[in-house]
Amino acid sequence: MADNKNGGLVYPSDGIVNNANVKDYDSLYQYSIENREAFWAEQAETLRWMKPWGKVLDDSNKPFYKWFDGGEINIVDNAIDRHLDGETRNKLAIIWESEAGAVRSFSYYALNREVSQFANVLKSMGVRKGDIVTIYMPQVPELVFAMLACAKIGAAHSVVYGGFSYEALAARIEDADSRVLITADGGFRRGKPINLKAIANEAMKRSPTVEVCITVQNNGIEVEMEPERDFWYHDLQALPIASPKCPTEPMDAEDPLFILYTSGTTGKPKGMLHTHGGYAVYTSTTHRMMFDIKPGDRYWCAADPGWITGHSYIVYAPLINGATVMMYEGAPNYPYPNRWWQMVEKYGINILYTSPTAIRGLMRFGDRWPQRHDLSSLRLLGSVGEPINPEAWRWYYDVIGGGRCPIIDTWWQTETGGAMICPLPVTPLKPGSATKPFFGNEIGIVDDDGNDVPAGEEGKLVIKNPWPGMARTIYKDDDRYASLYWGDYADKGYYKAGDSAKVDEDGYLWIIGRMDEVIKVSGYRLGTAEIESALVSHASVSESAAIGLPHEVKGNVIHTYVILKEGVTADKNLSQQLKEHVASEIGRIAMPEEVTFVEALPKTRSGKIMRRVLRARALGQDEGDLSTLEE
Ligand code: WTA
Repeated sequence: MADNKNGGLVYPSDGIVNNANVKDYDSLYQYSIENREAFWAEQAETLRWMKPWGKVLDDSNKPFYKWFDGGEINIVDNAIDRHLDGETRNKLAIIWESEAGAVRSFSYYALNREVSQFANVLKSMGVRKGDIVTIYMPQVPELVFAMLACAKIGAAHSVVYGGFSYEALAARIEDADSRVLITADGGFRRGKPINLKAIANEAMKRSPTVEVCITVQNNGIEVEMEPERDFWYHDLQALPIASPKCPTEPMDAEDPLFILYTSGTTGKPKGMLHTHGGYAVYTSTTHRMMFDIKPGDRYWCAADPGWITGHSYIVYAPLINGATVMMYEGAPNYPYPNRWWQMVEKYGINILYTSPTAIRGLMRFGDRWPQRHDLSSLRLLGSVGEPINPEAWRWYYDVIGGGRCPIIDTWWQTETGGAMICPLPVTPLKPGSATKPFFGNEIGIVDDDGNDVPAGEEGKLVIKNPWPGMARTIYKDDDRYASLYWGDYADKGYYKAGDSAKVDEDGYLWIIGRMDEVIKVSGYRLGTAEIESALVSHASVSESAAIGLPHEVKGNVIHTYVILKEGVTADKNLSQQLKEHVASEIGRIAMPEEVTFVEALPKTRSGKIMRRVLRARALGQDEGDLSTLEE
């Protein structure tokens, strides 16, 4: 269909090239590598600072880098306040559609009033600069207001994805020592109400730190409120304390903006900590350049704000860039598989950013659903969260983008804050490759000693330099941060991403997948250790192992192997029970596809489960080197 293919490369149209914010990748890339600090200083100057920074990069205490140290800034001053002086004031900041079809929209002016009111409510509840407020909400505008309200008054937020269970929520509240929890009565998914407040109540029984719980009314279901502790947001909002005027707190560039928990190699989720200054600079720069943001754009990142993609590219970067952000609460195929395409047409969306899983899921329903709609407003398409297979890439490109829209495949992580490897709209594309490093970044594919492997060979993905959007630490665990990410190549100062990848002869990067015990299910990041500890918390289970196996739509699904306690008999019923148990311990996204009962697990002599052996067996592949396998 696309006639702009050439030698495997897909070229952008002249229109895209002529309009691009950055027209020459190579020369700016070269400049950004040779003058990294100057490059980032120039980007930082596009933001409003309350006090100028001293040094751009302070690397005196590696790997604890500081950016724009001494500078004062508040990300909300940039995302909202500074827009109020100009034309952006009356532009739509957020358009939100509920699953049932209700629409709410907010200009930048209105957003400021909402956020200021929320901020004053938080202040009246005793929230102070430096506190960590936990937020557990469905995808509604108040989730964004709450995040921005925290940042405005200098409190850090810790958003827990609304699909997580009470156990997962309680563990995160406890780690963050949150005194205040913000939640909602519930949301909707496929027309069914979801009762978030009930889950929050369960979590609060286990997390005694919470003294105040603010509940936003959204789906109108009946909920249990505990006197003294529980408040309806609309009640508080009606009080004089909730004035729509609230000063924005000046923050040190390195002050915490948020922590966001993500899965890793142990059962304990890591609270990745991001800051006001560097994160604002990095996310807004990447967003402006990779998505060619223009003043008139309607931009839709169809992720959940509860994950890093939502934090960076629904909330902060687009608002800093003064874009109009689309938000949708519900399922992509509800009530029919044309829901998204209908919204693209209805709102005239110019840029759509989503995950390969969502694309594959919608592709399954066939071309006739998107073909019923005029999708000609689309100019750019984005992909994130997992490798996009060439088949899904082609469908997205041809059927959704009409062969006109470059696909911006962005590789990054919770830890990196923003996109690290991605094309610009002018970059010739190769379907399935995230293409080249973003400005300022040197990416290496290396062996165990940190030497670059030859083109075409698989190796470990490292980032060879600091960047402003990098997480500063794991909350309350500096040592783990230093050893986990920076320990393997400490002599070289490389950041280890945990992914394996290849680089081809043309310098294009191809991400293969995680090398550690992290599984990406539908783009969601889960740790094998969390799933295993959920399983062994069940009375019948003695030991367990979890692995990811390829799946056509979800990318990967979780398969588990379980050794039962003596005297327990395996049956189908129990297998279902165990699946449900994991779902209730972590969340439905972690529910295993398969539970296999086994007598033993392959282990090394030191007792570590050899998941690669389980994987190889399940896939009918060669089991590889078994010399460390216990007899
Ligand atoms: C994977 C999501 C291939 C990768 C923003 C990474 C990708 C992990 C891509 C981080 C991509 C993300 N192509 N793989 N474009 N983007 N990944 O923290 O394995 O939820 O390490 O951040 O997702 O997941 P996280």
